[in-house]
Amino acid sequence: MGLEINKLNKTFYNADDHTTIVALQDVSLRVDNGEFVSIIGPSGCGKTTILRIISGLEIPTAGDLYIHEKQAEPWNHVGFVFQEYALFPWRTVSENIQFGLEMKGLTKSEKKLRSNDYIHRFGLHGFEDTYPNELSGGMRQRVAIARTLVNDPSIILMDEPFGALDSQTRGQMQKFLLDIWRQSNKTILFVTHNIDEAVFLSQKVIGISKRPGSVQLSLNIDLPYPRDVTSDEFNRYRKEIIDFLNKQNIEQNG
Ligand SMILES: Nc1ncnc2c1ncn2[C@@H]1O[C@H](COP(=O)(O)OP(=O)(O)OP(=O)(O)O)[C@@H](O)[C@H]1O
Ligand SMILES: [Mg+2]
Repeated sequence: MGLEINKLNKTFYNADDHTTIVALQDVSLRVDNGEFVSIIGPSGCGKTTILRIISGLEIPTAGDLYIHEKQAEPWNHVGFVFQEYALFPWRTVSENIQFGLEMKGLTKSEKKLRSNDYIHRFGLHGFEDTYPNELSGGMRQRVAIARTLVNDPSIILMDEPFGALDSQTRGQMQKFLLDIWRQSNKTILFVTHNIDEAVFLSQKVIGISKRPGSVQLSLNIDLPYPRDVTSDEFNRYRKEIIDFLNKQNIEQNG
């Protein structure tokens, strides 16, 4: 088993006006080892909150989280690629990728060896000493993914990682991510607003209702990779997700 959450609830308390927001209600889901699962749902339904709880950045109000069948200790296993570009602007490409390795206390040459491996695999060769603001959006996202993978997490959480990219770069990054996933056999939980992206990438799509978020759809995508976005089957899955989102009274976004 990769990860499992069981009847997760999250209520936020606002100390200023003493109000509470129930963000998640009884969310249960399971992602098997090596599986690629996407989460889709309206803005504010709690997608980021789910990832933050799994990564240990947020504590649930109720419910259980199991990672590799054990309760908690996510920081040993989980890597997070955030919704916004979260690179350190004052660090070069190499220094960004090496960030997590510094926490592990590796020697300088070990860090360099491992980051160079990712720099080559991710097509960042020649940009080692470049700062993030001089990179294209696609390259920045490759650095962000490399920075997560270099720590070798078994589970990767990705929060709309391609949301800010133009559609052509986005398509390239989706193929790139699929290649990495299929080579590395990592477990990926991927949040997106984009229906085509969810069907193109995932083995399973989980739909979350509007707030308070709960799981309302669990759709296995039974198509071989690489997927043909023009096929009838692809369209059938696309329509199921559109119908689900329409039921949530929102317009498709992205
Ligand atoms: N730290 C916090 N304090 C108070 N409320 C919060 C906090 N974090 C999230 N929320 C609220 O919880 C709900 C879920 O937020 P979350 O960011 O998980 O949504 P989301 O599905 O990721 O949205 P989006 O698609 O816009 O990224 C929202 O109503 C949000 O305002
Ligand atoms: Mg979010």
